[in-house]
Amino acid sequence: MEARQQWGTRAGFILAAVGSAVGLGNIWRFPAVAYENGGGAFFIPYLFALLTAGIPILIMEFTLGHKYRGSAPMTLNKVSRKSEFIGWWAVIVAFLISTYYSVIVAWAVSYSWFSLNLSWGEDTEGFLFGNYLQLADTPGTFGGLVPGVVIPLAIIWIIVLGILYKGVKKGIEIANRIMIPLLLIIFLIIVIRAVTLPGALTGLDEFFKPDLTQILSPKVWVAAYGQIFFSMSIAFAIMITYASYLPKKSDITNNAFITGFSNSSFELLAGIGVFSVLGFLAAQQGVPVNEVVTGGVGLAFVVFPAIINEFPAFNELFGFLFFASLILAGLSSLMSIIETYISGISDKFGVSRGKSVLFGGGLAALVSLIYATRGGLYFLDTVDYFINNFGVAALGLVEVVLIAWVLRKLKSLRDHANPISDIQLGAWWSISLSVLTPAVLGIMMFGLIKDNVLREFATDTGNYEGYSDAFILYVGWGSAFLALVGGIIIGLMKWKNSKEVK
Ligand code: ALA
Repeated sequence: MEARQQWGTRAGFILAAVGSAVGLGNIWRFPAVAYENGGGAFFIPYLFALLTAGIPILIMEFTLGHKYRGSAPMTLNKVSRKSEFIGWWAVIVAFLISTYYSVIVAWAVSYSWFSLNLSWGEDTEGFLFGNYLQLADTPGTFGGLVPGVVIPLAIIWIIVLGILYKGVKKGIEIANRIMIPLLLIIFLIIVIRAVTLPGALTGLDEFFKPDLTQILSPKVWVAAYGQIFFSMSIAFAIMITYASYLPKKSDITNNAFITGFSNSSFELLAGIGVFSVLGFLAAQQGVPVNEVVTGGVGLAFVVFPAIINEFPAFNELFGFLFFASLILAGLSSLMSIIETYISGISDKFGVSRGKSVLFGGGLAALVSLIYATRGGLYFLDTVDYFINNFGVAALGLVEVVLIAWVLRKLKSLRDHANPISDIQLGAWWSISLSVLTPAVLGIMMFGLIKDNVLREFATDTGNYEGYSDAFILYVGWGSAFLALVGGIIIGLMKWKNSKEVK
């Protein structure tokens, strides 16, 4: 078998971890999530989640990967044979995320092209759903592939699988060394321009204005934890995998703090940029800021093109830069998401990296075609919601309960991290992982299950986004269960590879 790969330098590892964390979640998700959940007041649950769950779990995952030196399934197998399935569960969650994440990056590729002559026109919403996505009327139908999406999607898969084929040091590390500084420069140019636009201050005021009445609502806490998990790339196998490529003598805790704070700083920067331009758009249209705020697909692909149309000068250039930043942030995260299964397949089935890239990546590329059909957006929206809540957040809970309570490994992990790290772990870390995080996530999961199951049976509340029962059952719950059941099945298969790390 091939020897386990390694990062070339500490900076290379940190850039890759930051590259994984900073992604679509920071740019298109954070600003709207923060705004909808109390604006300035959202920072209280957000910071609480960052300091008591995000960074402690990141440290735990870095330590696990470094100590056991394996993909998430191999690491969990080495921690305890019976917990291997949790590693596969996380890997399948990552697999499913990669199938739609790649599609959003593909849209950004198309839009960077469209921005060269602002071909979205005045009706940016009609352009996205009609001309570009050719969205079907009813959820659950495929309605044929949309060539305008399939072509950039194929380009994205070729680029990302090409980088992954080159390996950890020559592929992922070099790509991040180029992409992350470039992303930062482009993003700073956009934000500086954004805050100097007329109306920017009104937008920022709206963003930071704290709505303290919201802070006690469980929904706000769910949003804060969900955002932290997705954005920091924790609880879906990524950071365990990346840390497994660290050389023996590597800092753990300081690297985790650097990664976590860089990610949150970027998130804040994105919030400032986005709300400045929203303030500008509102001023141009003579409407209040809250009338122009949307998140997700609507923000990046409907509102942003409208803002670009209104720019005083260099519209095409700023349009291109914005979508280029989405591509860079998205690609660097996408490669980390895919690396989880490349690494897992190689470890378990003893196949070369090339074969894992071909089979794992090839299968994911095929599945991603579902979202490149005319009905794709409905599938994407539903899988994203269920996989985040019943995949990522559920895995976060299972992981901390397993390590802190079932296997009682916190002390041995701390003893592993402390001698090699700049920052020493103490009571804060242990209490966060053994008490605070399980308690908050436990309550959150209970509420989420109750809400979503009740929604299915109650006629008055309606399903998520009003989708039909069958669609929610097969696509939403189906994908969440597929990850768990698939994890159990692969966990039961025999290892074709020695679990000893060469
Ligand atoms: N952490 C990545 C993001 O924020 C997945 O998009």
